[in-house]
Amino acid sequence: MGKIMAVHSYKGGTGKTLLSINLAAALAKTGKKVCLFDLDFRAPSLATLLKVKNPNCWLNDYLNGSCEIEKALVDISERIGNSGKLCVALANPNTEAIREMSSKDRKWEMRALGRLLALRNLISNTGNFDYLVFDTSPGLQYSSINAIVAADLVVVATTFDRSDMEGTQRMLRELYDLFEKKTYLVLNKVLENPTRHKSDLQATVKDFYQVPLLGVVPCYCDILKAEGSTIFAQDKPDHPFTRMLNALAAEIEKNIA
Ligand SMILES: Nc1ncnc2c1ncn2[C@@H]1O[C@H](COP(=O)(O)OP(=O)(O)OP(=O)(O)O)[C@@H](O)[C@H]1O
Ligand SMILES: [Mg+2]
Repeated sequence: MGKIMAVHSYKGGTGKTLLSINLAAALAKTGKKVCLFDLDFRAPSLATLLKVKNPNCWLNDYLNGSCEIEKALVDISERIGNSGKLCVALANPNTEAIREMSSKDRKWEMRALGRLLALRNLISNTGNFDYLVFDTSPGLQYSSINAIVAADLVVVATTFDRSDMEGTQRMLRELYDLFEKKTYLVLNKVLENPTRHKSDLQATVKDFYQVPLLGVVPCYCDILKAEGSTIFAQDKPDHPFTRMLNALAAEIEKNIA
């Protein structure tokens, strides 16, 4: 039986998409069968970042009930070049589609939740995947809450930004606890500070959030230089960011096996 992992955060720009792509790729590189879902209908980005044009069907169509999920899956395994499998299901980045998704009512969202829950078939014993990775929108909008409800575990990307820290702390107490989700933090974009000891940092973070810390990811200028065009797990296997993400993937495997 596979697992569903939602990557979420309180504020925007904390690194959810970057972490989702590279965690999915890192898991696929170890031979796992992984499918990455762009559930950020507010600002879809995987179609552009992964350079996939015109899939047979968008995730929007699947959630609208107008296509089967199999038609929305695009196999990009050859990019990873290992024994694993990597597929993606994309949110439609066209302006009209974004506007349409932002005007959905509660009733539609309830039906969409049913369809997200049905994705569990993809990871059942007869299913095709070991992991589904959901890249979500930040904050507490309906679609992100649906993604969290449908997931087995939530990876929360956070930074040292004060408002992000406080919002994340509240969200951990009031949202994930409510749904009784296994939750792990990834502290991202951390600046090098030679006077701060790594174990002190980890203890402080654990104390503040009261949830397990999966990893601390430094801020790398190479990531910004790549302008989103690089899947580090694929293109730069020896980069410290890739090694960091491989370690995060291994930690996830260990924790949820
Ligand atoms: N560890 C890091 N070092 C350097 N740059 C990073 C790091 N993590 C993320 N970034 C950069 O920060 C920006 C935001 O990252 P990303 O798009 O993954 O965040 P997000 O949480 O998905 O944003 P949104 O909430 O808008 O969907 C990107 O330009 C990304 O390359
Ligand atoms: Mg994103």
